[in-house]
Amino acid sequence: LHRNKGKLEMRIKNIDLVAKTLHGLEEVLAEELKALGAEEVTQGVRAVSFKGDLKMIYEANLHLRTAIKILQPVHTFRTINQVDFYTGIRNIDWSQYMTNDDTLSIDGVVSSPHFNHSGFIALKAKDAIVDQFRDKTGKRPSVSTSDPTIRINIHINDDRCTVSLDTSGEALNKRGYRVNTNQAPINEVLAAGMILLSGWDKKTPFVDPMCGSGTMLIEAAMIAKNIPPNIIRQHFGFETWNNFNQDLWEEVLDEAYNKYIDDCPPIIGSDIDKKIINAAKVNINNIRLTKCIKLESLPVEQFVPPTGPGIVVTNPPYGERLKKSDIDNFYKTIGDRMKSVYKDYDVWLLSSNLEAIKFIGLRPTRRIHLLNGPLDCRFLKFSIYEGSKKAKYQENYEPKPIEKVERKVKTIKLKTKK
Ligand SMILES: C[S@@+](CC[C@H](N)C(=O)[O-])C[C@H]1O[C@@H](n2cnc3c(N)ncnc32)[C@H](O)[C@@H]1O
Repeated sequence: LHRNKGKLEMRIKNIDLVAKTLHGLEEVLAEELKALGAEEVTQGVRAVSFKGDLKMIYEANLHLRTAIKILQPVHTFRTINQVDFYTGIRNIDWSQYMTNDDTLSIDGVVSSPHFNHSGFIALKAKDAIVDQFRDKTGKRPSVSTSDPTIRINIHINDDRCTVSLDTSGEALNKRGYRVNTNQAPINEVLAAGMILLSGWDKKTPFVDPMCGSGTMLIEAAMIAKNIPPNIIRQHFGFETWNNFNQDLWEEVLDEAYNKYIDDCPPIIGSDIDKKIINAAKVNINNIRLTKCIKLESLPVEQFVPPTGPGIVVTNPPYGERLKKSDIDNFYKTIGDRMKSVYKDYDVWLLSSNLEAIKFIGLRPTRRIHLLNGPLDCRFLKFSIYEGSKKAKYQENYEPKPIEKVERKVKTIKLKTKK
């Protein structure tokens, strides 16, 4: 019965969907969605809405490099207090999406003058859902935060509540390859977004001279070889839904395998820390990209990239734990190194340290505002052509102030298990 239900839904073309992303990656994500064949692609704030069929839900989860989650909004209603919120959730016929045997997890996100606590909202929603099942059947589904069969996302924006099914489960940046990390590994979605924003042609050498656990290198190799970012991920939310269509999912996977590209351009990483290079090796092997990525363990001052043209996309230390003079000097060293050995390279660098960036001594030719976790960052492009002499130079480069970032919303997961 469930399998047939899945087949029926396969033919429904216009399921409303929303892909969530990080600040600054909306445009790249919209492009990815269009390339995937999604319809009515519309950019929002840290989100892109689109329409598609059941296959598109599977494809979006597997293929999108810059999506954090794929949500399927199923209901909206107006709410200004906890009583009408509870009623609104309880009025939804939850038997359409789950049974007593399912285990439930609810994420609440609140950005509203009427509600303060996202945790409370998640708890109230859970009450409304389990009360509905208990009243109808005498039994109630249980809650599981670690391994739910169905995840629900409740978003209250001002007086509007949107209830969505979370098709992804765990966030999509959890690709499954990164077991070993350093203290500051970059989010995989941000790394992929940076590479896509850089416009890398997937042919010229790709270099990360401060590669840490290898995230940038792995994301670059997957992009060059057309490997879906989540190909080795063990679980997606939709796999435990009652409409899961195994045949359709296998078709999506087969189509993806058939599009792999054998060749790989030179992809090279280095880091001063030998231990982190060993961790990068393990991560690279987890996704079977050892043949494609070369690693060295040298300080940035000694590492020599292949002859240009080429591209660097890197995330150097921001210096939170260093003396100001030390981090300023380090950025000066990076700048000097760029001018001396990165001839004909485009160097893209992400940093939150606007003061230290000035010490690079080059004028960026592009500047993009991104957030790395809570940190306001600049993603800067330096074009190093004809070595230091003709490199666009400006000793007193002053970064412009960053435009105002949207108010952070409070997100919390329901932790109780009853
Ligand atoms: C912010 S982390 C990069 C994280 C990386 N993108 C990842 O995903 O794991 C900065 C890296 O720069 C390295 N580093 C610091 N000083 C360096 C130097 N002088 N030469 C090369 N690497 C250096 C650190 O060991 C650290 O791994």
